[in-house]
Order: sequence, then C-alpha cells, then structure tokens
Amino acid sequence: MDLKEERPRALELRVSRGFDLASFNPHGISTFVDRDDTVYLFVVNHPEFKNTVEIFKFEEEENSLLHLKTIRHELLPSVNDVTAVGPTHFYATNDHYFSDPFLKYLETYLNLRWANVVYYSPNEVKVVAEGFDSANGINISPDNKFIYVADILAHEIHVLEKHPNMNLTQRKVLELDTLVDNLSIDPSSGDIWAGCHPNGQKLFIYDPSNPPSSEVLRIQNILSEKPTVTTVYANNGSVLQGSSVASVFDGRLLVGTLYHRALYCKL
Ligand SMILES: *[C@@H]1O[C@H](CO)[C@@H](O)[C@H](O)[C@H]1NC(C)=O
Ligand SMILES: *[C@@H]1O[C@H](CO)[C@@H](O)[C@H](O)[C@H]1NC(C)=O
Repeated sequence: MDLKEERPRALELRVSRGFDLASFNPHGISTFVDRDDTVYLFVVNHPEFKNTVEIFKFEEEENSLLHLKTIRHELLPSVNDVTAVGPTHFYATNDHYFSDPFLKYLETYLNLRWANVVYYSPNEVKVVAEGFDSANGINISPDNKFIYVADILAHEIHVLEKHPNMNLTQRKVLELDTLVDNLSIDPSSGDIWAGCHPNGQKLFIYDPSNPPSSEVLRIQNILSEKPTVTTVYANNGSVLQGSSVASVFDGRLLVGTLYHRALYCKL
C-alpha cells in the first residue's frame, strides 16, 4: 500500500520466476534501503514448517519482487521476525530455541527462557542476545544505535544497544500490561508503535461470540526515565480482532492482525 496516495489500495506484488510461491508462508518482514536507493525486502518464511529468510529486491516500477537469496542457518531454528541492517545483513528473533513442534511446546510449558536474537551476515552469524521467554517483533531506531525486541510472553520491550561489531548489550526493559507482538518505528519521530493482544487466551481458543480484541500502543522517549505510553487504538473485537502490528507513516496508521482484516486510520 502506498500511504502517500489519497485512497491507498493493497496491491499484490509479482514475484520473479523461479521462487517457489506455492510453499511461500511469510511471517516477519523488513526493508533495507541502500545508498543508491535500492530497496531490499526481507521476509521470514516457513515453507513446509522450515525456517528461512528470503531476500528480494523491490522493483517499484513493475510492482514486483526479484528473489535474490534464501538463507537457512542452524542458528535460525524458529525465526519470527527480522530487521535488516544491510543488503544481506540482519538481526532476527527466534521465538523458540527448538524447531520441533513438541519440543517447542515443552519449552513454553516449562517456561524456559531460551529464545534469542541472532545477527546474520554472509561472513559471520552469532547469537547477540538471549534469555527471552518468546522473542517476537524486532526493529531498529532511526539513528541505528538501538535494537528493540518485543518479548511477547513476558509482556516486555527490550532496548538493546548496538555496537560496531554488531553485538548487543541490554540497556533497558520496559514492562507493559499486554502481549506485545510486532514493533514498528515512526521514521520521523523514532516513536515505537506496537501491535498488542490484551488477552492472549482469546487468540488461541477462537470463539466468534467472544473474539480477541485489539490494542495499539505508542511509546515515546523509551530511553527516558518515564517513557510515555499511549493507547492510540483499542477495540473489543467488534471492528478489529487480534492486532499484531501497527505501522505509521506521515500521519497514517495501518494496523495488521493475526487472522482478521487490516485497519487503515488517519492520525
Ligand atoms: C507480526 O507478528 C505476527 C505474529 O507474531 C506475524 O504473524 C506477523 O507476520 C508479524 N508482522 C510483521 C509485519 O512483522
Ligand atoms: C463490543 O463493544 C460494543 C460496544 O462498544 C458492544 O456492542 C459489543 O457487544 C461488544 N462486543 C463484545 C464481543 O464484547
């Protein structure tokens, strides 16, 4: 969707031949704009329950994606979301340590805090942060100095300082009263926008007469002693069910959901 248009419409992008669209099962998403304005799109993919990160080049004139690379790695066993920091470089969250569904279940059941954040580049792949209940959304501050990670089951946003060798150190943890899913950043202000689930149970046991609700939070000045947390949107499921991401651009807001529709708002 081009949020600069007066009445933006969702458009399906064509994908270059050779990429297996039939098994495409997209999850997290991120873009990187290079110095020459080339736009790279990173997508977490789960073809046949496997875990890959796909890198595409966005060709704006043709509204199409040219597939460049599929990345698989033993340190990416259960990838959830990705934030790109170069044309082939990214940070990604693993929401579990295991990839096997039963072991994943056990990991959550036993409350093992084994989820982590991995840095990937063609030369080096390493775990750069660990000890999360379930690391979910990840994003980067506009000045490139901080990585934000949502720990959905712990109800937390972690602020991690990024170092020249790409290692991360924990700077701060912000506790919230909701399940924080994906994080997006307002490019103009640096504010964090979070798609949240006030009641996780309703997500997993779907009952149309008591649907999952939606909540969008804006977090300003996260590094200050008292960050401002504002509930910008809240709904009991009558309009929007299971908000998982809230993306802002130039006074427009697009709220995505787990398995419902998306909501487009003016701020
Ligand atoms: C947000 O999170 C949900 C569930 O964790 C996922 O399915 C979705 O793809 C994510 N969206 C983005 C934009 O990363
Ligand atoms: C949601 O709230 C509206 C009023 O704002 C009410 O009419 C509706 O019954 C509520 N729905 C649920 C599922 O609680």
